[in-house]
Amino acid sequence: MTIFEAYNDCKKQLQAAGIEDYVFESKQIIKHVTGYTNTQILTKYTENLNKFQQDNLTVIIKQRLIRYPLQYIIGRWNFFGYEFFVGPGVLIPRSDTETLMDVCLETLKDKQSPRVLDLCAGTGCIGITIKGECTAADVTLVDKYEEALNYATKNALHNNADVKIVQGDVLKTEGAEGQYDLIVSNPPYITDADMQTLQPEVKFEPTTALAGGEDGLLFYRHIASEYKKYLAPNGTLAFEVGINQSEQVAKLMEQNGFENVAVRKDYAEIDRVVFGTLKNV
Ligand SMILES: C[S@@+](CC[C@H](N)C(=O)[O-])C[C@H]1O[C@@H](n2cnc3c(N)ncnc32)[C@H](O)[C@@H]1O
Repeated sequence: MTIFEAYNDCKKQLQAAGIEDYVFESKQIIKHVTGYTNTQILTKYTENLNKFQQDNLTVIIKQRLIRYPLQYIIGRWNFFGYEFFVGPGVLIPRSDTETLMDVCLETLKDKQSPRVLDLCAGTGCIGITIKGECTAADVTLVDKYEEALNYATKNALHNNADVKIVQGDVLKTEGAEGQYDLIVSNPPYITDADMQTLQPEVKFEPTTALAGGEDGLLFYRHIASEYKKYLAPNGTLAFEVGINQSEQVAKLMEQNGFENVAVRKDYAEIDRVVFGTLKNV
């Protein structure tokens, strides 16, 4: 089977299974199986796949047909121009979270050597990217779970990011030390009801990275009230939020004394980030 035939066959099977992005995904799968770049594929599309590549392709298509996430199959994913290893046990970085990155970098742009705390760090995509974009920052990443911490450690090394990675339970206010100019978090925020209706791919991601309690606000409530003592004067707290959570999160930040609380929309025009500053600590 040639690369071109394999690509067409993959597209056909993914489309039939109702996978929305079947063209994009088929390209990614063929690149992964052959190890070729986009340009190489364009010039080598009449080449035959060898037996190993063909067997690998068959297994990958089978995995996708049961909706195992493409990102876990490929094993790495791009976030804000940086590459992160991903796999079972860790949340796949989402492009929505790039909006949170924009807000963080705006907050840090005039600071000399800011201290940053990334709570519920997962792959480390937020904290590691901040360190990559703002090299003078002193960044600490906190997560409770071993699998996530292993990915964060591997990803920090892969991206040459000199960050501190700490195991800690955010709901017990662990992992912070001293004062921070920015505390950022994309915590688990799915409500108990919505946990029952997850997309098939998301069901393969760890529940511990998704479930945010009955109303989805468990982590926001705790972080806004218990971590504010770790913010430096004029420090910023920035959250990613789920659909329809921005008003409630903004309100609970205000109730905790945060000022200039603002909401930022993502590329799909959905309220995605809520952030504010704490003046009087
Ligand atoms: C929504 S994921 C976000 C991961 C990453 N920040 C991102 O944006 O892709 C939430 C993360 O919170 C971690 N987590 C869940 N409960 C926690 C807790 N009690 N304390 C610390 N981390 C926790 C999960 O392991 C997961 O990595």
